[in-house]
Amino acid sequence: MKVISDCIKTVYDKSKAVEHYLSTSRRDGVKVQWEEPFSCSVFQQAIAPYSKSKTEKLQVLDVGSGTGDGYVLLSSLLSEKLELGSSENLDYLGIDISPQMVETANNLYRNRSNVRFECADIRTSRLESSFDLYLSCGVPYSHLTHEELYQALKMIVTNVCQHRSRSAVVVDVLGRYSIEWTPKWQESRWDYAMSFFESEGNAEPTWMSFYSHHHLQEIMQQAVNEVGCPVEKFEFFDRSIMVGRHTSTGQFNPDLPQYRNLMNSLLDPSQKTDLSQLIFQVELETSPEHILEFFSQFSSWWNSLVSEATAILGESFGVEPVELPPEVQGFKAKLQQELEQISDKHLYRQKVELMLAQALQQLEATQQPGYGVGHDLFGVMWLDATQL
Ligand SMILES: C[S@@+](CC[C@H](N)C(=O)[O-])C[C@H]1O[C@@H](n2cnc3c(N)ncnc32)[C@H](O)[C@@H]1O
Repeated sequence: MKVISDCIKTVYDKSKAVEHYLSTSRRDGVKVQWEEPFSCSVFQQAIAPYSKSKTEKLQVLDVGSGTGDGYVLLSSLLSEKLELGSSENLDYLGIDISPQMVETANNLYRNRSNVRFECADIRTSRLESSFDLYLSCGVPYSHLTHEELYQALKMIVTNVCQHRSRSAVVVDVLGRYSIEWTPKWQESRWDYAMSFFESEGNAEPTWMSFYSHHHLQEIMQQAVNEVGCPVEKFEFFDRSIMVGRHTSTGQFNPDLPQYRNLMNSLLDPSQKTDLSQLIFQVELETSPEHILEFFSQFSSWWNSLVSEATAILGESFGVEPVELPPEVQGFKAKLQQELEQISDKHLYRQKVELMLAQALQQLEATQQPGYGVGHDLFGVMWLDATQL
């Protein structure tokens, strides 16, 4: 595998940035139990058509690979789901614009001969070999302007066509209509100052691009049209509708309840959570009708689940009950059944909180519409250039 490009210094070339990506506190309950399983389910769907025999290699290019989270997720997915291939047969190349990220990642995985990281800017890269999966995670494509994303995708699609391959392209960007930044919903590119990389809080401006489903699909479609590459299908997935990191930093929407912290508290048996704070009470901004309709429906389901859990604990918030989607309909009955076995008051509460967290996660994972209403929006396109 080869990629040709130069590398330049960016906001990520600060020891704070690498520290942040490697810190154990970054791997909170929400990341491990909610976000990573969801990302893995998207990657699983992306590679499903390319399941490999034991001897074949799955060739992967991870764009904006940072310290290698994409590799960790993908290899754990392949270790669990043997029908998709095997983690030993993963041939992984991570590229990143930041020399410090690349150096750290190469040091972390220096013992794995099937894993490499190279310094490259996706905006100026030329690819030389073909890949089954063009992966991305942690919203690297949001660092690009809309035009740069179009050019980068065109370069990837051209590579697929030149090699007459069948490949999936996963494009991870920031969702335009996340509740984390309702005051910014009118803009599609704004300064996302990464203050957590700075010791004195004097963050440099970091312009990032935000996408609705419609806008992202338009750019993906333009790239394939321009190259003339056949598309098997497009799919879109929202991740972290309620639990994006900025629900708890309050950086862009200070009035928001700290949903991520609350969810971490539900998942942590040593903490007691104030369930009333979980009620969805978000002031929404003007936005397309389907976005407001989605939040209206989703918040009524969310609040019903919270209310079912609190009713069991003998509290009431006066939430109007609504019919829940089939995936979470059995929540109350299942919870009551589990609680029959428990007499200890403390364990009883722990069980309610844990099962509520699981139900809310299930609600989000199954009802996400792929509109750009979460922290991350994954756009996936499956290309088939084998008949060209
Ligand atoms: C938020 S981090 C995500 C890292 C990793 N994928 C993860 O999930 O933890 C975004 C990464 O994209 C990289 N990046 C930004 N612009 C890039 C570009 N033009 N070409 C390649 N990498 C880029 C950054 O250096 C950074 O490591």
